[in-house]
Amino acid sequence: MKIAVLPGDGIGTEIIAQAIRVLDALELPFEMETALVGGAAYDAHGHPLPDATLKLAKDADAVLFGAVGDWKYDTLERQFRPEQAILGLRKNLGLFANFRPAICYEQLVDASSLKPELIAGLDILIIRELTGDIYFGQPRGRRTAVDGHFSGAEEAFDTMRYSRPEVERIARVAFEAARKRSKRVTSVDKANVLETFQFWKDIVTEVGKEYPDVELDHMYVDNAAMQLVKAPKKFDVVVTGNMFGDILSDEAAMLTGSIGMLPSASLNASSQGLYEPSHGSAPDIAGKGVANPLATILSAAMMLRYSLNQEEAAVRIETAVKKVLAQGLRTPDIFSKGTTKVGTVEMGDAVLKALA
Ligand code: IPM
Ligand code: MN
Repeated sequence: MKIAVLPGDGIGTEIIAQAIRVLDALELPFEMETALVGGAAYDAHGHPLPDATLKLAKDADAVLFGAVGDWKYDTLERQFRPEQAILGLRKNLGLFANFRPAICYEQLVDASSLKPELIAGLDILIIRELTGDIYFGQPRGRRTAVDGHFSGAEEAFDTMRYSRPEVERIARVAFEAARKRSKRVTSVDKANVLETFQFWKDIVTEVGKEYPDVELDHMYVDNAAMQLVKAPKKFDVVVTGNMFGDILSDEAAMLTGSIGMLPSASLNASSQGLYEPSHGSAPDIAGKGVANPLATILSAAMMLRYSLNQEEAAVRIETAVKKVLAQGLRTPDIFSKGTTKVGTVEMGDAVLKALA
């Protein structure tokens, strides 16, 4: 089982270190190799996704990814910015299906900004299409406007687009996932305004006919954003495009108490996957030893489950995490009165102890 480990920037290195300790403790035959990615790779090699890093990722069964980005790279030409590394990995490995579960752990109901009764027992799965949409559509760029009221002015543009096979395959992933859960799919679109998403909605409806046992409904993205904070437990599987999924998954993350708790998996057609926490590199707390490593540790569990076929080990990790939460240990992002505040390494220590 070959794992490419890409810690990245900011808190990436700190949280990945804890996930590695947990993986090591499982004593399974992993071959782990680490490489630079993001700003760290740009500093060392002049590119956020060096060829050697991409090759390592391609040759691995799974990629364990930390986070990339720092404000200091914001003025670089876009192709050199750290974010291009994760986008490049997704595109080059064909990681079109992004799973972002939002589970509210019983012990963390009070850490959410929402009322406990709204989120207790919450378990939703956001499935975000990850290699299409306005993130990758061409053409894009800047030019001088040739028509309209502002003709002659400078303008910028991106292209929102989806092809039929792209929508069909992500719809199937969603219906299959729903079959293993409570058999409900909500497809989120903006069909009332955007042609791309009327197309999306039509195709999801068509594919849905192959899954008569799964209940399908459609929701506009603005309404979905509202319903997510109004009555989040009404959702089960949510399937949506790349950009809406980016936004809604951050929102869903906060329902659970902290984005520091949420793992994610990005899979291609052959179950090769990239696993990363749903949060970013958090440069404001980097190096302080306070970042929550649990999202990354839980991402490692997803990796064991989806790409390495080690369900038992995945459950072991998840159980250990629950145990640690039950003991009242909290990094600052999930701290509340009556619990014990710990740092990144202490949290790792606790998970290791709970594993044993
Ligand atoms: C995410 C991130 C990325 C995205 C950025 C870093 C490119 O926000 O994984 O959600 O927008 O997809
Ligand atoms: Mn995001």
